[in-house]
Amino acid sequence: MEFRDVVLRRRMVRNYDPDRSVPAAVLERILEHAVHAPSAGFSQGWGFLVLEATADRERFWATTTPAEATQTRWLTGMRKAPLIVIPHANESAYLDRYAEPDKGASDRDPGRWPVPYWHIDTGFAALLMLLSAVDEGLGACFFGIPPDRTADYRACFGVPAQFVPIGALTIGYRAADHRSPSLKRGRRPVAEVVHRGRWDA
Ligand SMILES: Cc1cc2nc3c(=O)[nH]c(=O)nc-3n(C[C@H](O)[C@H](O)[C@H](O)COP(=O)(O)O)c2cc1C
Repeated sequence: MEFRDVVLRRRMVRNYDPDRSVPAAVLERILEHAVHAPSAGFSQGWGFLVLEATADRERFWATTTPAEATQTRWLTGMRKAPLIVIPHANESAYLDRYAEPDKGASDRDPGRWPVPYWHIDTGFAALLMLLSAVDEGLGACFFGIPPDRTADYRACFGVPAQFVPIGALTIGYRAADHRSPSLKRGRRPVAEVVHRGRWDA
């Protein structure tokens, strides 16, 4: 698929065909693309948990879904996804990397970071997976894990404490989907969000 088509066709998919699993080769390509994301200092401080088995996916939903949200249309559609990938960011990998001689930091002070690069880089990897899914004829959705569920999630899947799940992706073949109410907001045009030469000109 043309790159521009991939970008323009991408949208979050929240309902999947439960009878079509993601072929192994497709999953490997998606993961291969994820680790081609750029990362500050080439730190690559990320980690990905892949859930394919039905029991694992059910444990994911049971652990991360708030009790009051178990019967929603959103969850019904999302649970049908045959694949869940959870990208994690590891801040300590960046603090270690930037304390290496070529980066010159003499300590692991988190205060020198303009923004948390560990979240940015893992987000880049997530976007590459979203785009790769489209390129493979699949759909995907990035969504948040409620903060009060993170500890249970970690315990359930043996995720080390330094790895923070930045969200999760469902991936699969698309089924009839409903439009997100958020889309009613409309896409902000380039002219509204881009400032050329000077912000307040
Ligand atoms: C950081 C982030 C968090 C998001 N969290 C959720 C979420 O928890 N649930 C959900 O259904 N969609 C979530 N979305 C998807 C957005 O609602 C969606 O990207 C937006 O409405 C634009 O629609 P589109 O991506 O289909 O173009 C999230 C997107 C991003 C980038």
